[in-house]
Amino acid sequence: MKTLSTLDVVSDVLVIGSGIAGLSFAMKIADFANVVLITKKEKAESNTNYAQSGIAAVLSPSDSFETHVKDTLDCGDGLSKRAVVEKVVREAPARIQELTELGVKFSRTATGKLDLGIEGGHSKRRVAHAKDLTGKEIEATLLNAVAKTPSIKLFENQIAINLVMKHNRCIGCYALDTESSAVQNFVAKITVLATGGIGRIFLHTTNPEIATGDGIAMAYRAGASIMNMEFTQFHPTYLYQPKEASFLISEALRGEGAVLRDKRGRQFMADYHPMKELAPRDIVSRAIDQELKRSGDDYVFLDISLRDSKFIQSRFPGIYEKCLSFGIDITKNPIPVVPAAHYCCGGVRTTIAGETDIKNLLAIGETACTGLHGANRLASNSLLEALVCSHYAAKRCKELLKKRPILHSFTPWESGNAVNTDEAVVITQNRDEIRRLMWSYVGIVRSNKRLTRAKKRIALLQEEINQYYWDFIITADLIELRNMASVAELIIDSAILRKESRGIHYSLDYPQKLLTAQDTLLKKQDVHTALT
Ligand code: FAD
Ligand code: SIN
Repeated sequence: MKTLSTLDVVSDVLVIGSGIAGLSFAMKIADFANVVLITKKEKAESNTNYAQSGIAAVLSPSDSFETHVKDTLDCGDGLSKRAVVEKVVREAPARIQELTELGVKFSRTATGKLDLGIEGGHSKRRVAHAKDLTGKEIEATLLNAVAKTPSIKLFENQIAINLVMKHNRCIGCYALDTESSAVQNFVAKITVLATGGIGRIFLHTTNPEIATGDGIAMAYRAGASIMNMEFTQFHPTYLYQPKEASFLISEALRGEGAVLRDKRGRQFMADYHPMKELAPRDIVSRAIDQELKRSGDDYVFLDISLRDSKFIQSRFPGIYEKCLSFGIDITKNPIPVVPAAHYCCGGVRTTIAGETDIKNLLAIGETACTGLHGANRLASNSLLEALVCSHYAAKRCKELLKKRPILHSFTPWESGNAVNTDEAVVITQNRDEIRRLMWSYVGIVRSNKRLTRAKKRIALLQEEINQYYWDFIITADLIELRNMASVAELIIDSAILRKESRGIHYSLDYPQKLLTAQDTLLKKQDVHTALT
């Protein structure tokens, strides 16, 4: 065994990712472990930071655990695991209380009670929020708490490249320092993937640039099982701006009475579901998709202007300001919206405590697939899942550390004969192609023909990217591109395996739902080769 080097960054626990999952987990283990937390950009940049609507939990006497469980199971369309749903739902109030004690300022009513929002698929008001800037408030509070905790060391601009394995145990990871371009060994007894989602694999997405599926791709290369990747959730209402980076228009607007209309002013949701605008989001996304295909229009309208102007500005200050910056006054005018890729219901298969198939490797948050969301996530259940599962994972981590796992050093990163790239355009070109092909062929409505086309294209792209990966010195763009291609392939393969329509996976060739609900599992066979 190689002895530890002074160049190694050594910790009891290495956490990869600084969203709600990574930060809340780190806080929970900080009193019994020394923690290194790495994140690939500046520390607040995460899906968490952009969350608008809030966290679902039973927080009022008119609600019940049974109802939240039922809504979650109904939305999951037969694929959610009841035991996981029960545990997450029952833990939710305590975890929200914990966030409040840490300093998160949730919006309150005039009498001081939590102001609860409602979204599609929820039969009760149960979404705790900080106006429409909930994620920003949570992220800032957790980062502040982490900064005051000496046993957590946070490193920004470190992009994890690969997990390092020894005898089916994870012993740390290689990460590229994107400022110095050096590759660092992070050696740890336990490694935790909290790397978030995959939205950037699609052309139109609500997700920020960090969401390239790195954790899922790394875990897959290391030999972990990846579950239910066909279930990409599309959010129905993303601000339509043909030329500029855009912005999510929260479902909470529909919770407060906003309606969807086509360009001619016709309200169409009643044609699709009795809950109309508050139907589960797969139904709303497909309805908009169908309306757009039928009319040839580029967008539909979401209209909240029927509500009082002061209410709109105080309840949705973030959305009001952002839309105004695009020249849309939402108190007077409807908002042009389209669906966009939003959330990955699949991921690294884990228990509720984040355990994967690989020893000493945990996965939490959007990277993990615990069985809570099944075939479709109920709105505002993901911040919740990240919180509850981090809590359970912290307990599991304590038990694992009691078994005294050993620190194993590993050889420094070798660049071999790789040279600096002379054609970075290959990376941008391939990235664009993946995003376009996923949008066109693996989007809201799928078919055998489209999936087969996508599979052929992605195989060619994979070949080219792998060649490029070995020939050129590694960069953050190249790391992400390789991961995006790998996750795109996982989504396509999972979608091909599912011979039915269920939840958010809709196939023109298999419009029916099968009698038995089954998870889709993918696992790499040639793990050794894949790791090098
Ligand atoms: P993230 O918050 O995405 O954090 C991932 C972290 O990992 C980031 O710090 C990233 O930089 C880092 N990272 C990634 N790859 C690497 C790597 N290779 N090396 C090092 N670091 C890496 N859910 C709700 O429940 N309610 C909502 O209201 C809600 N609104 C949303 C609104 C928007 C616009 C979006 C995009 C999502 C929303 N969601 C909402 C979903 C929810 O925000 C996410 O599922 C959740 O925040 C995921 O948390 P996470 O900690 O798992 O990942
Ligand atoms: C939203 O605010 O509409 C997003 C909520 C979610 O994704 O849970």
